[in-house]
Amino acid sequence: MPRIISVIAQKGGVGKTTSTIHIATALANMGFKTLIIDWDTSQGNSTYSTIGHLDSKNQKGICHIIANGGTLSEVLCKTKTPNLFIIPSEVTDSRGNAYSIESTLTQLGIEGYTLLKELISENDEIQDFQFVLIDNTPKLGIETVSSLIASDYFITPVQMTDFSLGSIGQTISTALKVKKGHNKDLEALGIFVSSSDNRINKSKEAIVELGEYCKKSGIHLFDSIIPIASKFAFLPRGQQTIFDVTKPSERGHKEYLKLTKEMLSRMIALEKASAASAKVTTKGAEV
Ligand SMILES: Nc1ncnc2c1ncn2[C@@H]1O[C@H](COP(=O)(O)OP(=O)(O)OP(=O)(O)O)[C@@H](O)[C@H]1O
Ligand SMILES: [Mg+2]
Repeated sequence: MPRIISVIAQKGGVGKTTSTIHIATALANMGFKTLIIDWDTSQGNSTYSTIGHLDSKNQKGICHIIANGGTLSEVLCKTKTPNLFIIPSEVTDSRGNAYSIESTLTQLGIEGYTLLKELISENDEIQDFQFVLIDNTPKLGIETVSSLIASDYFITPVQMTDFSLGSIGQTISTALKVKKGHNKDLEALGIFVSSSDNRINKSKEAIVELGEYCKKSGIHLFDSIIPIASKFAFLPRGQQTIFDVTKPSERGHKEYLKLTKEMLSRMIALEKASAASAKVTTKGAEV
């Protein structure tokens, strides 16, 4: 059974897709069978970053499955990275019209919220993966909520800018509402700095503020800090990652690897704690 991780942030352009691609690639390079679901269907940026644009006439993606039915296996694609696969988004249909997953899910009513969870959990091929990362849209609507309902964990990238910092509260409170109302097993894996310019004092101060916020609200803040680097901008066109174009000693490369290892350790720690508390509860029930 895979561990399913939603990458969410209410703010646009803060590194959801870039971190999805880099964490998923790092996991795949460590030997874990890893799947990306491109659930930001109107942009399809994870798809472009791994396999290029889908030829909408021939290659179907998740939008087709949501609109017409079918299984995720029908659209599962290999990437050039061994162990890394993607459920792509085709963005437009064969006539070139944009899909609106949001309205399709909304029309389904309550089933729209659980559709992604069902598509994942009913699929044996997907159950064979060790990790699933879901790249989300910069909105906290039905698409993101359905991703959180399907997930075991969520992570939130934050840029060191006032707008990004200012939106964290809304992102976290939405996820915690989903946990409370719809998915009690959902855990906040943590927040991480997805882009920071450490030559600027304000960035360093903002990281300290972020640390204080996380401490106060009980949300884990990862130690790894992804540096701002112009190299990230043109990686998608060649379906490359920072791991392809820099040495392991370069900061972006090093920090994305470190972040992935931190995430793995934190998942193991959370799962150990949860197993221990289940044991105590069972013992209590026996008494
Ligand atoms: N550490 C970084 N340094 C510099 N540029 C970065 C960094 N991380 C991401 N970027 C760039 O910032 C832009 C936005 O990143 P990305 O698309 O990953 O954000 P997003 O949250 O997925 O956006 P959206 O909300 O539109 O889906 C991209 O051009 C990307 O290449
Ligand atoms: Mg994105």
